[in-house]
Amino acid sequence: MIELQSVNKIYNLGQPNEVQALYDVNLLIEENGMVCLRGASGSGKSTLLAIIGCVFPATSGRVAVAGKQLARLPDRFMTIHRRRTIGFIFQQFNILPDLTVLDNITLPLLPLGISPDERRQRAAELIERLGIGHRRDFPAGQVSGGELQRVAIARALINNQPIILADEPTAHLDTSLSHDFMGIMVELKKAGKTIVIASHDPLVTEHPGMDRIIDVRDGRVNVS
Ligand SMILES: Nc1ncnc2c1ncn2[C@@H]1O[C@H](COP(=O)(O)OP(=O)(O)O)[C@@H](O)[C@H]1O
Ligand SMILES: [Mg+2]
Repeated sequence: MIELQSVNKIYNLGQPNEVQALYDVNLLIEENGMVCLRGASGSGKSTLLAIIGCVFPATSGRVAVAGKQLARLPDRFMTIHRRRTIGFIFQQFNILPDLTVLDNITLPLLPLGISPDERRQRAAELIERLGIGHRRDFPAGQVSGGELQRVAIARALINNQPIILADEPTAHLDTSLSHDFMGIMVELKKAGKTIVIASHDPLVTEHPGMDRIIDVRDGRVNVS
């Protein structure tokens, strides 16, 4: 499902502020399971997630996601591939506070030419499933942190993407909401999704539903 071979990432290549964030990463993540990228701050977790999530390309190496070699895809196709394949739950949720909960969730469908009725229907189903039906027409800026994360989860699921990526998803949640989050991830795994979570929170890394932990240290991954 996700395969990285000899992947390097260098930010600001050739400039005085050049930083190598990933060194020769080799990684194979099979379909349908929940995997954790565990590592200290600055170890390269977010960079790795962004490469898997087609947010930006690796500097060198080969990356295949859901059967496509990313390096061979022109930018425009990379964006299309990302929309079809990846649901990304960002650390800061990336929610637009003035839009309603429902409109935030349907945002990823706008470029896809899906009718407003179908957009609303798909979002309404997810909103109910995630238990935030009572917040559907609230401006997203007025709902609680836990509810906001469910909005972010719903948005990551709206196009029925097979891969869910989450970057430090419990960083802004209390223990109870963190447990709830992991419960939702376990349900999604059972529904056949492939889930990759970057975290150093023991509540995530040591969760019984976690199938595999991948340690990231100083930009290196040692797969045991
Ligand atoms: N946009 C960027 N420009 C320059 N350096 C960056 C950028 N993003 C991350 N880095 C650097 O790359 C390394 C890995 O960062 P990151 O992937 O964010 O780690 P983590 O998510 O594990 O905290 C760090 O040294 C960080 O400072
Ligand atoms: Mg990070």
